[in-house]
Amino acid sequence: MENGELGQIYFGKRIHIKNQYANLIKRERREAMPSWKVDQYDFQPDHLKQEYASLGKGDFREPAYQVQQENGSRITELQYVDYRLQKGKKRLSGLPSSFADESGDVETLAVYLKDALSGLTVTLRYSVFPHQNVIVRSAEFVNKGKEHLVLRRALSCQIDLPDSHYDFIHFAGTWSRERHEVKRSLQPGIQRISSLRTESSHQHNPFIMLARPQTTEDCGDVYGFNFVYSGNFLDQIEVDQYGTSRVLIGINPEEFSWNLASGATFQTPEAILSFSSQGKNKLSQQLGHFYLNHLVNPRFSNADRPILVNNWEATYFNFNEDKLLSIASKAAELGIELFVLDDGWFGHRDDDTTSLGDWFVDRTKLPDGLAHLADKIHGLGLKFGLWFEPEMISLESDLYQEHPDWMIAAPHRTLTPGRNQYVLDFTRDEVVDTIFKMMAKCIEEARLDYIKWDMNRCITEMYSSNLSPSEQLEMPHRYILGVYKLYQRLIDHYPNVLFESCASGGGRFDLGMMYYAPQAWTSDDTDAAERILIQYGTSYGYPLSMMGAHVSAVPNHQTGRVTPFETRGHVAFFGDFGYELDITKLSKEDQKQIRAQVNLYKKYRRLFQYGNFYRLESPYEGEKNVASWEVVNDDQTLAIAARYQLLNRPNPSYLRLYVRGLNPDQLYRVNGSQETFYGDELMNAGYFVDQVLDINKPITGSADFSSRLFIIKAVK
Ligand code: GLA
Repeated sequence: MENGELGQIYFGKRIHIKNQYANLIKRERREAMPSWKVDQYDFQPDHLKQEYASLGKGDFREPAYQVQQENGSRITELQYVDYRLQKGKKRLSGLPSSFADESGDVETLAVYLKDALSGLTVTLRYSVFPHQNVIVRSAEFVNKGKEHLVLRRALSCQIDLPDSHYDFIHFAGTWSRERHEVKRSLQPGIQRISSLRTESSHQHNPFIMLARPQTTEDCGDVYGFNFVYSGNFLDQIEVDQYGTSRVLIGINPEEFSWNLASGATFQTPEAILSFSSQGKNKLSQQLGHFYLNHLVNPRFSNADRPILVNNWEATYFNFNEDKLLSIASKAAELGIELFVLDDGWFGHRDDDTTSLGDWFVDRTKLPDGLAHLADKIHGLGLKFGLWFEPEMISLESDLYQEHPDWMIAAPHRTLTPGRNQYVLDFTRDEVVDTIFKMMAKCIEEARLDYIKWDMNRCITEMYSSNLSPSEQLEMPHRYILGVYKLYQRLIDHYPNVLFESCASGGGRFDLGMMYYAPQAWTSDDTDAAERILIQYGTSYGYPLSMMGAHVSAVPNHQTGRVTPFETRGHVAFFGDFGYELDITKLSKEDQKQIRAQVNLYKKYRRLFQYGNFYRLESPYEGEKNVASWEVVNDDQTLAIAARYQLLNRPNPSYLRLYVRGLNPDQLYRVNGSQETFYGDELMNAGYFVDQVLDINKPITGSADFSSRLFIIKAVK
């Protein structure tokens, strides 16, 4: 802009490149607005599209950053200095981040800005991933002056959209009820979702969308924003007096500040921006492709994820080696591939009051040790996985006896337990180091193939005796950096271990975690009916390979609901499939079903884990009584759709299933049908779903929560 600050022109569907865009930076002089005199021109920052705005120079919207100088002033004037364009995208150091090598067509633009008075420089980075319509943004602050500066806010991205005719769609919930879709139209003022729990949280997921009101799954404009971070975040949209919308994404400025001594650097995490003019399905698909190609650990991003059985809901804390082996051998017999030993194998943990931090085997439950159990499990032809909660400590633990000062606590304040446990101060290197060593020993002893990394409480009394008073507000971010440090170290040392992240289910279902742990336990709620809502909501922002989904017992342990075994399978298929129930106690009929489900999943695993996902009918709309979705392979020769009916309806309306993503000119069969159907026929005219019951056979059991699977294969 005329004053040397960076303006914003446009973000949306691709338009032609020109040398100048006078039309896009046109402005009118409005009364009663502060203005900068730039030459003869009245320049009023309060209604300009800015690239990375500060507060205090006439733009009164909430800013992207704020830096306090030694004299207390928060005024800065970042001026454009230079730019550089490079091939590829380098990873950030110490933070989860996107990546691309220099051989492809990903490019990274760095724009250098400087505040001459303080010596602060800011580098704004933009990496463009043209195949997935994604831009990754971050900001790097360097103090090149002599003063001590304090960063009071440092967001990763600001977008000033020129109007506010959007629906703000986000994903809210709580424990066991994560990521339910919420939709509201933008209104004047600030609307935001955020977390101050030092976890991305069950309550609000960092992924949001702004969609034109008429946008559907298959057409219309929609922006998606996500954040590669697992701690306190802010997603904010401010609709101003002239109806523009400022989007801010980044670390929550509340409970944050950072000392930037002379010479010091601060790098923000990355924000992910994406746009689709072809509706929300397309947006979700391009984001999924982006994560798998440019964010998730390449060793696993395209690998078959194993079918697992987890003993948590089968035994809780009450097990011994025989019990575990009986589950494992049944699992092997049924074709399951990975046995996961959940909470309760360490210290002397018989309930949730003890032993966190004591990552050595409980000899009363497993007298022959981990290696022995692991050998037996590997001997059955299964992979072996173990549960850890590395960031936690129980008062009743050896670790606490030895290092009471390693627990997060505020001086002279009472403690606030969560699930009877406390949190380790991961800002301390010696803590990260000790936990690494304990985990490493287990990994080697048991030759672990998989780790479930849990995190079952958010953090209170945020204070570290390791930090000076002026550094205390750095703690929430430093804590997360400590978590990332441990993850990175484990992955560097044990690259073949598959991590699944978990935080009381889906409390840390975020891209920061996904960088290290390619899959996450979607929710502690395993009830099929509830899972439809959770997985449907989650699918807007995350691909199926990131969602752990298990078949569990009925009555369901979270809701008490009884759903058919078949439906539980049909829901869990759409994710990283597994079982979470005592499979040794099942009827022959149920065991037969498991074998059939396992075989079907193995046959179509690539599709279920990596296919292009389409939401067809939303459980959040209409009567809220049905849902359907579909996955299609890349060459459009195979698709599987599922339709779920929550409450049964007598004598229902005629039903046609309208699928998506097929080749219009290709002939297909549905569930091995005699008749063949063109792709365009199935997508536009629909597939007739037969629902008529035999009137002479009254329904005896419950017909609620039924489901149907449609396997659609191209005719060769
Ligand atoms: C959390 C997890 C569960 C289970 C328990 C064990 O709630 O989400 O899956 O691992 O902890 O305590």
